[in-house]
Amino acid sequence: MAKILILYYSTYGHIEAMAEAVADGARAAGGEVSIKRVPETVPEEIARGAYFKLEQVAPICTVAELPEYDAIIFGFPTRYGRLPAQMAAFLDQTGPLWMRNAFVGKVGSVFTATATQHGGQETTLISTVASLMHLGMVIVGLPYSFQGQATIEEMSGGSPYGATTITGGQGQRMPSETELAGARFQGELVAQTAAKLMV
Ligand SMILES: Cc1cc2nc3c(=O)[nH]c(=O)nc-3n(C[C@H](O)[C@H](O)[C@H](O)COP(=O)(O)O)c2cc1C
Repeated sequence: MAKILILYYSTYGHIEAMAEAVADGARAAGGEVSIKRVPETVPEEIARGAYFKLEQVAPICTVAELPEYDAIIFGFPTRYGRLPAQMAAFLDQTGPLWMRNAFVGKVGSVFTATATQHGGQETTLISTVASLMHLGMVIVGLPYSFQGQATIEEMSGGSPYGATTITGGQGQRMPSETELAGARFQGELVAQTAAKLMV
């Protein structure tokens, strides 16, 4: 059974909700799934003042445990068209693991959220994929075999580079059914791919 880590950061809970859907998909494909998050780096007083969702059930991940997993699915909101500092700070501690090729051949995958429809989801996903390739990960995205990818019936996230959701400027929109389906599809495909690579 492939061990799948869903490693996320979420300020306001949208990515937290997407992470649950990714986990459902990975479990449905037979993966042994853990959902964990990276530490908050914003001082608590400032975070509370900005209404961060500080209470989240997922435990905090350690860098040292990352090699235990066969696949890591990274989720985080977009910050100016790229990943947030919280996730970057976590990834920047993987140097010693990179030096011993600890991620080479493991599956890597990414999902994100933006406030606006064209707010940089694809740059966030693609730039993170580049980093994961430095680590030697085998990338799984969200292919067009996910039917919801091509919808024009509704406003929707989703891209070939990974599942996405659009939150609205005030965070008023939670992931739609189509976006959650994309997240589940990606989780399932990652678990299936990781299992194949274990053979
Ligand atoms: C500093 C900062 C930069 C942001 N940059 C972008 C951006 O480039 N494009 C965009 O559409 N939304 C941007 N947002 C909005 C976030 O992406 C949005 O709040 C997030 O996707 C919500 O997900 P969460 O609830 O999981 O934190 C930014 C928010 C902050 C605080």
